[in-house]
Amino acid sequence: MATPASRCIVGPRNGGTAVLPGSYDPVTHGHLDIITRAASVFEDVIVGVVNLPVRKKQTVFTAQERVEFIEAEVGKLGNVQVKPFDNLLVDFARENGAKAIVKGLRAISDFEYEFEMNQLNRKLAPDIESMYLMSAPQFSFLSSSGVKELAMFGGDLTGLVPPQVASRLQEALAR
Ligand code: PNS
Repeated sequence: MATPASRCIVGPRNGGTAVLPGSYDPVTHGHLDIITRAASVFEDVIVGVVNLPVRKKQTVFTAQERVEFIEAEVGKLGNVQVKPFDNLLVDFARENGAKAIVKGLRAISDFEYEFEMNQLNRKLAPDIESMYLMSAPQFSFLSSSGVKELAMFGGDLTGLVPPQVASRLQEALAR
């Protein structure tokens, strides 16, 4: 029988399934760092790509394009699937048998919104735990909106998003 101490020991990839939700418009190296770190802790990771305008924002890329950009980067991890969703996040988590929702936090500015989402999701589904990974320092300034703004004005996207995403973004914003 597991003792309290042994239950506290986190072995490799023993946390069950986690859902990592987001708009990912487009995926950045900051997102990919969070996905990679979650994939080293959880047995299975489902990246959930929102297929509806959230907070009234239209996306540059379709959900399918956003899914494909992420798939191209996470195949090597071996335990990550990418799926679009257009229902409540907690329902999507339940459908996928996830015990946890994992999100990245960059700065205090993320905290207020995430705190609100956390309380709402906890009310809807107290059995699903929301967990937060702090962004790595080199990505703490990086956001999809910042990348889009840089791309719109011809800024260099090297090191911010995968090369394929950079060229598709430049193409899309030139239109
Ligand atoms: O910051 P993002 O990437 O636009 O976040 C999107 C998402 C879904 C992670 C965020 O809006 C959230 O946590 N929503 C919880 C409420 C919910 O279930 N909304 C429906 C999404 S289809």
